[in-house]
Amino acid sequence: MQDAIAILDYGSQTSQLIARRVREGNVYCELFPWDTPPDQVLALDPKGFILSGGPESVYEEDAPKLPDYVLGSERPVLGICYGMQLLTHALLGRVTRSQKREYGPARINVLDPDAPIFRSIDPRAPLSVWMSHGDRVERLPAGVTPLASSDNSPYAAMGDVGRGLYGVQFHPEVVHTSGGAAMLRAFAVDVCGCVPSWTPGAFIDESVAAIRAQVGDGRVVLGLSGGVDSAVSATLVHRAVGDQLTCIFVDTGMMRQGEPEQVVESFERAQGMRLVAVHAVEEFLGALEGFTDPELKRQIIGEKFVRIFETEARRLGKINFLAQGTIYPDVIESAAPDRPAAHRIKSHHNVGGLPPDMGFELVEPLRFLFKDEVRRVGAALNLPEKIVWRQPFPGPGLAVRILGEITWERLEVLRAADAIFLEELDCAGMLHHAEAETQQAFAVLLPVRSVGVMGDQRAYGQTIALRAVTTDDFMTADFARLSWDLLARVSARITNEVPNVTRVVYDVSAKPPATIEWE
Ligand code: XMP
Repeated sequence: MQDAIAILDYGSQTSQLIARRVREGNVYCELFPWDTPPDQVLALDPKGFILSGGPESVYEEDAPKLPDYVLGSERPVLGICYGMQLLTHALLGRVTRSQKREYGPARINVLDPDAPIFRSIDPRAPLSVWMSHGDRVERLPAGVTPLASSDNSPYAAMGDVGRGLYGVQFHPEVVHTSGGAAMLRAFAVDVCGCVPSWTPGAFIDESVAAIRAQVGDGRVVLGLSGGVDSAVSATLVHRAVGDQLTCIFVDTGMMRQGEPEQVVESFERAQGMRLVAVHAVEEFLGALEGFTDPELKRQIIGEKFVRIFETEARRLGKINFLAQGTIYPDVIESAAPDRPAAHRIKSHHNVGGLPPDMGFELVEPLRFLFKDEVRRVGAALNLPEKIVWRQPFPGPGLAVRILGEITWERLEVLRAADAIFLEELDCAGMLHHAEAETQQAFAVLLPVRSVGVMGDQRAYGQTIALRAVTTDDFMTADFARLSWDLLARVSARITNEVPNVTRVVYDVSAKPPATIEWE
């Protein structure tokens, strides 16, 4: 078992980021809602605790509390923002409302450069940090000394070095806090004594052993979508139990150019997995005929997918396990139902999200990984870069990128245009790596025709919209500033090579108010 840190979540927008930063320092950690039953948190045997920020005020009646077992464990604690105020309150210091809310960038002066959490920080220059708080610590608890100050907070950081208790008023987890990741790592490694051994290689070894133990000589089925999560899950399960795994790939007809072949090539031929490829294109097209409403399209595809998957799985005979590419953010979201969940604008049906009544036990090897960790594990498993750095692709596929009715002809137009766009981006080195210029790029077929001239003829052709965005989390996004030259090349190629397309437009909307997909 890895050394671990437990993070108690008090509802800050950046709680997940704390966990990602700690893990980037190669220390395993898990995020728990603050009121999780103590035995569940202590089962991790954490070597220290981090208390996240949160929107409340410690003196409010229903304010979330610091559970007794945290200080009772006598292990190190780092309180961030609200977490610092909780710690202060619990240690009998005083918290008051600030004269002025502090939000955004600020500068702090480190007062004690020898404090372990500041050891890798240059103490001579003021440090830029990110603040977001209304309350502040007014009087330090006994035994706690000031470690940093800002104009607005005399105690921007505090600590009882002997007991390993620290509080910071700012957010070390956000990129705008310089040296923030180093502070979190110093807390986990130097203060809590965690061995930084959380690496893709260690994860693969542990995960393969755990899958073997769970599956025994049972049989596993897994739905491959070609996306990185299902690809990495399949590869881990295959390493663990070989031919006891059968993957099912359903060709819905809504895939991008070359994708069905790529899935068969990478998993069946290159990795030697048992793979059932189901060609269900006509069935999906038949079911979608005449439908133009995006939610209905999603629903039809989702239901049909489940039915086909179930039929194929039953055909395989006795199967005991269903492996899925569930990742940690999904687990966190479902563990915290009282968190003001992101407003659901579209029903995000994930192909792979199968109904629970199929009688299989779940195998979810990526349950505790963030997306970037999944990609690092994929790279360590030697999966092709195109899969490791594959952009997200909606479960219903191209169906939500064809506005209006879906026909085979319209799918082929979109596929051809999309392939040209992706090929040009790829040639320009903009895809499939960690520093890619755009995190998601695709073409959309619009339901409008417009006038054009082709040769000497007046044409009434179709319109393709190009969408490329930059984003960290897909919750907000901006349009990618692609060069005019690249856009010109893509536009010329699409209108020359794709029959009946006479106009290409580039989408310059941000999210919000637009969404990334058009439907
Ligand atoms: P939006 O369009 O909501 O997209 O800004 C945010 C991210 O979610 C993806 N997306 C989907 N994924 N099923 C999925 O599995 C869907 O129905 C769906 N709709 C959008 C989108 O591609 C983007 O990455």
